[in-house]
Amino acid sequence: MVSRVIPVEPFDLVVFGATGDLARRKILPALFRRFCAGQIPGGTRIIGAARSEFSITGYRDKLAADLKQNTSEKICDADVLAAFLQLVTYVPLDGSGETGWPALCESLSASGAERVKVFYFSVGPALFEPLAERLHSYGLTNAATRIVVEKPFGHDLASARDLNRTLASHFDEGQIYRIDHYLGKETVQNLMAVRFGNMLFEPLWNSQYVDHIQITVAETVGVLGREDYYERAGAMRDMTQNHLMQLLCLIAMEPPAKFDPDAVRDEKLKVIRALDPVEPYHIVRGQYAPAAGAVGRDLNYRETVDNQRSSTESYIALKTHISNWRWAGTPFYLRTGKRLKARSSVINVMFKDAPHSIFGEEAGRHANHLKIRLQPNEGITLSVTIKEPGPGGMRLMDVPLDMSFAEALGPEGSEPADAYERLIMDVVRGNQTLFMRGDEVEAAWGWTDPIIADWQARGDVPKPYESGSTGPGDADLLLRRDQREWRGINP
Ligand code: BG6
Repeated sequence: MVSRVIPVEPFDLVVFGATGDLARRKILPALFRRFCAGQIPGGTRIIGAARSEFSITGYRDKLAADLKQNTSEKICDADVLAAFLQLVTYVPLDGSGETGWPALCESLSASGAERVKVFYFSVGPALFEPLAERLHSYGLTNAATRIVVEKPFGHDLASARDLNRTLASHFDEGQIYRIDHYLGKETVQNLMAVRFGNMLFEPLWNSQYVDHIQITVAETVGVLGREDYYERAGAMRDMTQNHLMQLLCLIAMEPPAKFDPDAVRDEKLKVIRALDPVEPYHIVRGQYAPAAGAVGRDLNYRETVDNQRSSTESYIALKTHISNWRWAGTPFYLRTGKRLKARSSVINVMFKDAPHSIFGEEAGRHANHLKIRLQPNEGITLSVTIKEPGPGGMRLMDVPLDMSFAEALGPEGSEPADAYERLIMDVVRGNQTLFMRGDEVEAAWGWTDPIIADWQARGDVPKPYESGSTGPGDADLLLRRDQREWRGINP
């Protein structure tokens, strides 16, 4: 099955922070891949803007080198690359000063007022406000303008509110696209398709049938290269408040009446608002440290950030409940960490045991289990119970009903589109379904702020765990106390 490509009308897209890491590794390669797929028409203009002085040719040369490095050889055809580079220009610009703005206005003046203009804030949060103000004061905003704001969206509830207020003074909510790239992942959207496109699951999707749900986002990378940011953020702000929270919302929300931005976001917001505060003894914080005998700065969190007394967590496991009719009594266990055993993002929906075993206890009891693999090896596995083959009597065993999305999409589609490809094209099309609304972000901070405040008040220090392990032992206890176990972290 080949994925369908629906071309959009020509648009203008300005990338602020065009020479930064995110723009080079994700945003521009995503645009290039969409161009290769035939979705971006000629006449579109992509304008890189950053402080560095580059001529247009100089910037295109640098971009060409980046694209060769960040896209697969298969699509990086020389003619296509040359055609893409023709769409790209560059303006040296100071986001918090006045340099470059007249040149940007000049460059954008060529297109009509109704043409979609996207301004992508791929910059640190300190520049969000100055950029929004300048877009406004230089007359670059109208109804066709959209801004894309990267995380971190605030540092806590108060700063997120301030930011929302500032953006709202220049833009309507319908023009603000707050990115959480997890929402652009193929399987994350499949979560909604699986839940709301099938009759099979939804009737069982509640506390009567679901024993508990585990959401794991495990990474093998450390924080080298992002030390300052990460020391201030930690796993709670970097991953839990946004990515894990979004996954939790999609798994737990009520079916929206339609797949429309506000209908979906209203339902997600209700989930966040129904989350119970987390008890301090239902959270485990960890910090990676080298295994015995291992050396290397990137294996040791404190060495990486050059702070031997750091109390920033690189790992979190927690248990929470959603107080509503559907989920009362079903715990949700969330965990995420850096420098773990494998890169693996998985949601496990663990169903309850059958109420009565007609085969007797000796046949063994097996509960169904739905495993949703977000990355790598995107797909879904449902474990079902069957009879062990052979004449040895009635013994039960689990077998997986396995669906790999790579196989389902066939060889041509086997490399799923990157989240940024989908999200950027959604911005151009004006579809906000996969972006966070201001009230959602605030509600998420409202839930995390007291947790962080409690750590600070108690001077909580994260537990060390070995780089390459599954995290601190206390995280296992969190489930064992409930007679449960984490599913393995496997690639
Ligand atoms: C980012 C976090 O938002 O997501 C990073 O800031 C993290 O710390 C990354 O590594 C994980 O994204 P992915 O797509 O690699 O799972």
